This record gives sequence, C-alpha cells and structure tokens, in this order.
Amino acid sequence: MSLALIPSAPWPAPPGAESQPAERMGWYAAVARWAPSKHNTQPWRFVVRETSLELWADPRRMLPETDPHRREMIISCGVALHFVTVAASALGRQVSTAVLPEGSGGLLARLVEVGSRPVTADCRALLDLIPRRRTDRGPLDGDALPPGVPFLLQSEAAAHGASLRLVTAPGDRATLAGLVARADRLLVQRAAVDRELAGWLREPGDARRDGVPTSQTRGPAASYRAEFVQRDFSSSRSTPDHDRDGADHPVVGILCTVGDREPDWLTAGGALGAVLLRAAAHGANSSYLNQPVEETAIRHQMRDRLALTGSAQVVLRIGVGGAVGPTPRRDPAEITFRGSS
Ligand SMILES: Cc1cc2nc3c(=O)[nH]c(=O)nc-3n(C[C@H](O)[C@H](O)[C@H](O)COP(=O)(O)O)c2cc1C
Repeated sequence: MSLALIPSAPWPAPPGAESQPAERMGWYAAVARWAPSKHNTQPWRFVVRETSLELWADPRRMLPETDPHRREMIISCGVALHFVTVAASALGRQVSTAVLPEGSGGLLARLVEVGSRPVTADCRALLDLIPRRRTDRGPLDGDALPPGVPFLLQSEAAAHGASLRLVTAPGDRATLAGLVARADRLLVQRAAVDRELAGWLREPGDARRDGVPTSQTRGPAASYRAEFVQRDFSSSRSTPDHDRDGADHPVVGILCTVGDREPDWLTAGGALGAVLLRAAAHGANSSYLNQPVEETAIRHQMRDRLALTGSAQVVLRIGVGGAVGPTPRRDPAEITFRGSS
C-alpha cells in the first residue's frame, strides 16, 4: 500500500493514561467510524456517557430497497463495534460489551471499561490497519496469498462466533458466480434499487463525506467480464480507479451465522471486522459480492446449492490486490453525541 494513500490523521491523538473514560469512549468512536458499511452509509451513532459508550443504528441511513430488515445495516454496525474493541485493546483497556441490552430493535450495544490489559504488538498492528483496510474492487489474486491464510481467516471467523465457508471447488465457484450474476441482474432491473443506489453515489467534487465515490469501482466492462460480477458504482463522469491489470482469482468466502436475527447480524459484523483486519495483516485486500444475500430467493438457493451451514451474511472476495484510496468518513462530531451520566 502506497504511503500517500494512508490518511495522515485518521483520528485525533489517542487520549493519555490519565484521561477520563468519556474521552477514551469518544476516541474509540472516532476509530470505529473507519468500519466498512454498505454503500458507505456509515449507519451508526455513538452516545458517549461518563463511563460507557452506546452504539445505535441511525434509521435515517437505512436502505429500504436492498436491506429492508436492516441486516446489512446491523452487520456494518457490528464491524464498528469490533473496531471499538480493537481501539480499546490498543489503549490497554479491557472492555465488557452488553449486546442488545434492552432487547432487539433499540440500543445495539453498551460498552464499559472493566480493567487494563497489556498492549501487544498485535493490538497495535490491528489498530494501524483500520484506516489502511479498504474495499478493493479490482483484480484480486488469491493464489498469491501466503499459504494457510484462508484457513487463518476461517479461524478468525470462528473465534468471533461465525463461520467462513471457502468456495473452492470449480463447480461450486461456477454455481456461486451464476447466483451472483442472477441476483445482480435482478437488482439492477429494479428502478427503486437504482434510485436507492444513486442516492449514495458521489461524483467527483462532491464534498459529502459518505456514500461511494464513483471512482471507487472497477467499471462495468471489467466487472461484468470477471468470474464474479461486482456491484457497479461507476458513472460516465469518473474513471474507475480499481480497474487495473492483474490476476483475478480471489479466494471467495461466505460468512455465515447460526441464526438470522439482530444478535446474529452483530456477530456477523464482528467476525467480518476481524476477518478483514486479519486479511489486511497478511497483505490481502478484500471486497464484496453481496448481491445474492439481498435477493431472498437467491439467498436460499445459495444455502441449498452450496450446502451452507447457517445463514449467509456476507460474500467476500479476498486476495493480493492493488493500492486503492480511502473512501471518506464523516467527522467524529457528526456521529458522536454526549449523553447524560
Ligand atoms: C455489509 C456490507 C455489504 C457490502 N456490500 C458490498 C457489495 O455488495 N459490493 C461492493 O462493492 N461493496 C460492498 N460493501 C463495501 C462498501 O461499499 C464499503 O465498505 C464502503 O464503500 C466504504 O469503503 P471502504 O470499505 O473502502 O472503507 C459492503 C460493505 C458491508 C459492510
């Protein structure tokens, strides 16, 4: 990754050892906002209280056409929650997280610090990787990964309560590619889906700090020629920055959870965050093929035809990629709110 592509100050300086818990909570939120989210909606709100941090989903950032049950929204929030724990570990703080403490449909998580812990090199490295991890929609070479990395990623998913099913057999890859292409076709044919996506596309010069820049894509020609069709964010006004030469044979994995409700979506998000950072630690870029998860009938076919255990939440392509620039994030002040006590 080229150094020029790394944001010079992705977050404010970390609070010192004598800081108050609330200062640290605010900092954890500033780090967590670098989580990936569908269409870069950044659908989270953090409430900083004197000794706790709350994570809420922001209903104004929902995608009713492609995510009517808020599954991908909660998964995105789950990644942010995982990044909070990475930030806390890097400050040497042990945290306890109550997930859905008031039941489903409200507060997603409340987190408190419960002690200190040694800061390991791994904690620091994972924190450093948070702003360097990006979605790379260009060619990804799974064969160039150090041997064993796919299995390490499976272990990472399992350690976070999910499973990562690697789709390796040529027949299974062809099955998945067909399902991705069919779901993609169904999605692009729906005018309401198109309008929803258009609302989150950002043309060159757009100063908003959310949504997907139309340059952060591979372009329709290359994307539709590839083994797996990717969602197209491009426009005629920008050049596709992820279009480049290179082997395109990604490792493809389907992140699954046992159930398919809010707690499972938060689990999926935690596992996704952990897998993405671990992949980045091994020099792997990642991107998504989530179209089949958004079409209910195709999601069921994917489970049956690939004999998945559990519910598919995220389909990932992983491999050695290229240098891609960061996608913007809103300022901490826009996502962080002070709560009483
Ligand atoms: C649950 C989820 C689903 C996503 N689905 C797709 C997808 O189907 N296609 C895609 O190109 N990107 C997908 N993304 C990636 C987001 O577009 C990306 O995270 C966002 O634009 C921010 O960019 P960054 O990851 O480079 O920081 C998804 C991300 C999440 C968390």
